Amino acid sequence: MSDLRSGLGEAAGAAFAALGLSADHGRVAASDRPDLADFQCNGALAAAKAARRNPREIAAAVAAALSGNPDIESVEVAGPGFINLKVSAAALSARADALAADPRAGAEPLAAPRRVLVDYGGPNVAKEMHVGHLRASIIGESIKRICRFRGDETVGDAHFGDWGFQMGLLITACADDDAEIATTLDRLAERPAGFTDGDEQAAIAAFAARIALEDLDRLYPAAARRAKADPAYRDRARKATAELQGGRYGYRLIWKHFAQVTRVALERDFRALGVEFDLWRGESDVDALIEPMVADLAAKGLLIDDQGARIIRVARNGDKRDVPPLLVVSSEGSAMYGTTDLATILDRKRFFDPELVLYAVDQRQADHFETVFRAAYLAGYAVEGALEHIGFGTMNGPDGKPFKTREGGVLKLRDLIDMARDKARERLREVGLGAELDPEAYEATALQVAVAALKFADLANFRGTSYVFDLDRFSSFEGKTGPYLLYQAVRVKSLLRKAAAEGIAAGPILVEAPAERELVLLLDGFDHSLAEAYDKRAPNLIADHAFRLAQAFARFYAACPVLIAEGAVRASRLALSALTLKQLELALDLLGIATPERM
Ligand code: ARG
Repeated sequence: MSDLRSGLGEAAGAAFAALGLSADHGRVAASDRPDLADFQCNGALAAAKAARRNPREIAAAVAAALSGNPDIESVEVAGPGFINLKVSAAALSARADALAADPRAGAEPLAAPRRVLVDYGGPNVAKEMHVGHLRASIIGESIKRICRFRGDETVGDAHFGDWGFQMGLLITACADDDAEIATTLDRLAERPAGFTDGDEQAAIAAFAARIALEDLDRLYPAAARRAKADPAYRDRARKATAELQGGRYGYRLIWKHFAQVTRVALERDFRALGVEFDLWRGESDVDALIEPMVADLAAKGLLIDDQGARIIRVARNGDKRDVPPLLVVSSEGSAMYGTTDLATILDRKRFFDPELVLYAVDQRQADHFETVFRAAYLAGYAVEGALEHIGFGTMNGPDGKPFKTREGGVLKLRDLIDMARDKARERLREVGLGAELDPEAYEATALQVAVAALKFADLANFRGTSYVFDLDRFSSFEGKTGPYLLYQAVRVKSLLRKAAAEGIAAGPILVEAPAERELVLLLDGFDHSLAEAYDKRAPNLIADHAFRLAQAFARFYAACPVLIAEGAVRASRLALSALTLKQLELALDLLGIATPERM
């Protein structure tokens, strides 16, 4: 099933070909003057230039060839040689019926699906997830859903940060903070003879009894600050990191506790946010791969000694900026952030063999990924081009800098969700929604509104653009917001419920009123938006589509009453409403946004 745009494009292409010109010139786009035309083809200009002919003559010949096409109501040449096309009502109706019958509402599956791994979220042990990870989660989740919906075999992995320097830092900080922990860590440098698995569990539980997540939250930032200022402290933390990675027993046990207690909290927050990882692998999971990998890199002649550390140089002739080398083994013998990333590429190859890996991570890590990717290509661990960094800008405060709380700290994801939910309740009250829901459904709806507000505000911008956090605006039921979209979707749901209760059935879609035309043309464009969003890794194009669809529905609903119409017209409008809802919900789902049944 092809959309109207490609159908017309093919017809126009054939007309160009018949004139001895390239069929590529037939490409058709939505008209930028919707008052004059539905679609336009600008190919005559380029064709004329290439063939040194008159563009208006070519346009006129193509227009003449198209005028007999039953899908076309009118075709006109405008300006220097633009071809304006208006689609016939019959073609619009047929297309709308086909969309209504399609469970995918017009979204074509990929002809050549691939195995795609999306690395996103990237939360870390010990630090509760903060707004810095919010965008990684929201954008990654959407990109994963887009790939999966189009047919790629897709795996989303959280890539839990549980193996780097922050672990040594935390161990050092906990030992300094609590003498009993320090003693236990000393006593358990090696696994004691006769220590059973039960003893091990008990030891971990004893750590858990003394250190809660709040303690990690308190200790970590202080330790990170101190390590910056105090080289001796930093060296101790580095040594602890190396010893943890080297297998020091007590360190492994306390580390297990850190990872567990963090993960529980993270998973709760991700669930609230509608972010669902298929895999929750950590940097530590590739630990066993690192030694053989380092040997392999050495055997390939890629490792260079650099003041006691081992690095891979990845700079290339013609680089316009400095691309730093990859630090593989630090002078203390630790694996670094890039080392685990490189080993993770090998690991993923083994269990999934992805054809494409997309890393949804802050743009500020662009250099890191450029370095890791080049090292992977040099080592033959991935095919050039198969690794792609999907960078994004920051969410800023009113001062234009990455968002902080009023106290100057990072806002925890949990607190952000709570704030957004409070705001959602306030908004629901203001506009008089949700009053008929029972308390449980009301709370669920408030959370859905909050999540829609946060996610849509984030995804509505091209990911490279930074944006200002403005919960008031994000949560409004008016304007280009998540709540507005939910409201429109819920309106259609309630309309469909009423129709079902009155026993009214949907029927073939007749496209008559201008608002119906507008709506069907938009519905027709879903696949195009989707394909573009996929190619550019740009969920904002789907956000745009959803928003325009909701607006077009609102206009249609105002101009074309449904339930009080009669007969075939009523059946048609009902079918059009149901189709709109289906496509709107699909689009919102691709953004990771769920719609309530009632509000
Ligand atoms: N944990 C990292 C951070 O907080 C993000 C991880 C991104 N993914 C990756 N493969 N490096 O900065």
